[in-house]
Amino acid sequence: MRRTRSALLSLLLAALVFATTASAQNGGLTPPDAQSPNADRITDLYWALVGVCGFVFVLVEGALVWFVLRYRRSRRARHLEGPQVYGSTRLELLWTAVPVLLLAGLAAFTFYKLPGIKDVPEARAGDRLTVHVEGHQFYWRLVYPDGEISVDRLVVPVGQVVELELTGEDVIHSWWVPQLGGKMDTIPGKVNRTWFQAKREGTYPVICAEFCGIQHTVMRGTVEVVSQSEYTRFLDQHRPGSQAVGRESVEGVCLKCHGLKGEGDIGPPLQGNGLIQDPVGLEAVMRNGVGRMPAVAANWPDDQVETTIKYLQERFGGG
Ligand code: CUA
Repeated sequence: MRRTRSALLSLLLAALVFATTASAQNGGLTPPDAQSPNADRITDLYWALVGVCGFVFVLVEGALVWFVLRYRRSRRARHLEGPQVYGSTRLELLWTAVPVLLLAGLAAFTFYKLPGIKDVPEARAGDRLTVHVEGHQFYWRLVYPDGEISVDRLVVPVGQVVELELTGEDVIHSWWVPQLGGKMDTIPGKVNRTWFQAKREGTYPVICAEFCGIQHTVMRGTVEVVSQSEYTRFLDQHRPGSQAVGRESVEGVCLKCHGLKGEGDIGPPLQGNGLIQDPVGLEAVMRNGVGRMPAVAANWPDDQVETTIKYLQERFGGG
């Protein structure tokens, strides 16, 4: 009796723990509020899988607990065997057929949803915006159709189908905006594609979901969904040689390793660093890397390198 009671008590406690975790909104267990049609479909799939798996889990574990209690040894002597049961065609058919049907159903549902997650929707050329996404150690570089650049922030107009062409410049990274569709790896030498169509304006977090080196955790960014006019203004301010590009490059590329105030964290301090007054040497270091520093600017256009050096000099050139 006492054992039954303690078994029931543990069950109850476990149920309580799971209930609080499950009801904690977005405690990491449920997908975030989807803001793009492909993210909606990923959420649908998630709940279908959780529902069916949860049902099977409760059924199997419930039966297990019930059998353990119902057919326990009780007062029967230790050396006595319980009654032996051989063969039950109906039961055996049932526990074979039901899992097959469940798995086939889940597979069918997944394949039904998959094209809507992966394939870029058909849209007239003018309605589709294609942005090039580069994963670098340890930042995202975004290049827009007319060569505009931003770092660690992708700015797009609301409601537009945005196609992303993703590639890696050094190691493999993984672009992930949970609210705007699935994850996609950025792989050197390969172009992957994904897309989204943001339903409303807002700022959505981007994370790198592939361990890519010492600063992997700071490889974060945002997708900013804005109005068409704001988007046009953004593009005007982000031509390769513009000051905004210099500032974003310094903040997103240099400062992650050289310290938020240039004081040196993983890399040497920038403040008062002699190299800052030597644009030729600085460019060589940025383009080729040195020691543990990756070749962060290997593929940048000259304009971006120049504006970045200029911004570095303005901010850290003095004593
Ligand atoms: Cu890039 Cu992790």
